[in-house]
Amino acid sequence: MSETFEPRILSFLCNWCSYAGADLAGVSRLQYPPTMRVIRVMCSGRVDPGYVIDGLQRGFDGVFISGCHIGDCHYIDGNLYTLRRMAVVQELLDLSGIGHERMELKWSSAAEGQLFADNVKKFTHQIQELGPFDPARCSLSLLALERTLNSPRMRWLVGSSRQLTERKNVYQETIPEADYQEILREAAAEEFEKAMISVVIAEQPRSVPEMSQLTGLPVYTVSKRLNELERKGEAGLSGYEGRTPKFVGAPA
Ligand code: FES
Repeated sequence: MSETFEPRILSFLCNWCSYAGADLAGVSRLQYPPTMRVIRVMCSGRVDPGYVIDGLQRGFDGVFISGCHIGDCHYIDGNLYTLRRMAVVQELLDLSGIGHERMELKWSSAAEGQLFADNVKKFTHQIQELGPFDPARCSLSLLALERTLNSPRMRWLVGSSRQLTERKNVYQETIPEADYQEILREAAAEEFEKAMISVVIAEQPRSVPEMSQLTGLPVYTVSKRLNELERKGEAGLSGYEGRTPKFVGAPA
């Protein structure tokens, strides 16, 4: 990709560290590309995973999040939550085919203007290599990602991650980290498949082969996930075209 492509990057900077680091980089006249559109947040933990998807839907070529180093968060452990949440977002970006490289999470302090400038340069170069992001071409995936991240199952799993893996339950047990990651990966894949089907049947009634063609999922997987959606009341039979049943979903 040509170096002349100037990406538009949505960036969320923590007020206490990276935002001040960006300021220091400016005051110190450190050179870095003017690719960032900055939103200042009080903690990186304030960045909802949905903001990343929203940024891509709005046509940004990448999303950059930067907060205090681990151990330095002004709200004790906000950045530990960020770390876990954004790992899920990157996993889902890979699953959708968009690729985790469109999102970056970096730590830098208020005194690290040079590190901030270097992080911006590196991420800008990474996005230049990937090329412009086309939200229209990825609209199905983006809508499905939005639904996945908002699903009660994913919200609970991601929100309870530290409670599940670090704090003992009433039986004095914690879930080993590797087991938790496996559960999370499996849930993310299943919820993403269901979300893709939900998106295509929210538009108009579809048959199983049509859903399979539009989502790229095998017919067997579509049938399985459709069945789960029906049981939850999120999809239903709408009628027949000849002998082929068509299904419709509930709007998001
Ligand atoms: Fe900076 Fe939490 S206050 S990441």
